[in-house]
Amino acid sequence: MGFGIVQILCTALLVIVVTWLLFFVVRSLLMIFFPKKQGRQLKVDVGNITLEELSKYDGRDPYRPILVALKGIIYDVSSQANFYGPGGGYSIFGGKEVSRALGKMAIAEEECNDQLDDLTEKELETLQKWIDKFENKYPVAGKVVPELKLTLDELAAFDGTQRPTPIYLAIRGIIFDVTRDCNDDLSDCSLAEMDALRDWMAQFYGKYKVVGRVVSSAERLEPAAGAVEAEDDVEQEEEADASTDKNKDD
Ligand code: HEM
Repeated sequence: MGFGIVQILCTALLVIVVTWLLFFVVRSLLMIFFPKKQGRQLKVDVGNITLEELSKYDGRDPYRPILVALKGIIYDVSSQANFYGPGGGYSIFGGKEVSRALGKMAIAEEECNDQLDDLTEKELETLQKWIDKFENKYPVAGKVVPELKLTLDELAAFDGTQRPTPIYLAIRGIIFDVTRDCNDDLSDCSLAEMDALRDWMAQFYGKYKVVGRVVSSAERLEPAAGAVEAEDDVEQEEEADASTDKNKDD
């Protein structure tokens, strides 16, 4: 009788352990084969970027997603940071165009590019399989575009006067697109960014002459009373100067 109860208890325990193990194995397999397409809350959209810009998304900066490009299409592979992030078996692919490497099944930095001219039929097929896999697994985050080559004269056209043309500036020959931050909206600035802004203001106050203030179009049309008085004062001063000059001439 006592032996019967022990047997039932042992069987129940075994069933619980086996069920738990099965659940764990099935859940792990599901996570491997059907990972969540969108691992992060926000959809990443880097737009059209150069290979140099893409290299910033290699997983080393924890505030940036991990991106990989195949035939110029950029995928957000952050959901598999264990593969592509630092320390992952495929971390050298992070932030790169990897068509050639995947076609040739080569985990080598020098193969990370889009040169496909000398790939065999079989290698091109392999690449296509990778592309199919990436399309089904990862969200598209942007496109690779060639680097701009502009002379200083050509660069001058990107000065913000012809919106929606972007605003570019160059520092030591490298051209940056600064359109995003060329406005006075500070609503999404962090405390650190506001501190940085205060430092810049202090530098500008120390270095350059203040010549006025930015006003809204409405303020421009209806100048404030103080401004009208100031304008009158200037006019009177100019008239006084003119009459002094006239007297001198006489
Ligand atoms: C002994 C050889 C290899 C073994 C055993 C192996 C094994 C694996 C395994 C188990 C995965 C995870 C699969 C998944 O979760 O979908 C994986 C992923 C991957 N492997 Fe390999 N691999 C090998 C060689 C290579 C080579 C030579 C390349 C070069 C291109 C490569 C590229 C990749 C890539 C890019 C992924 C990530 C795929 C993704 O993002 O889903 N592997 N590999």
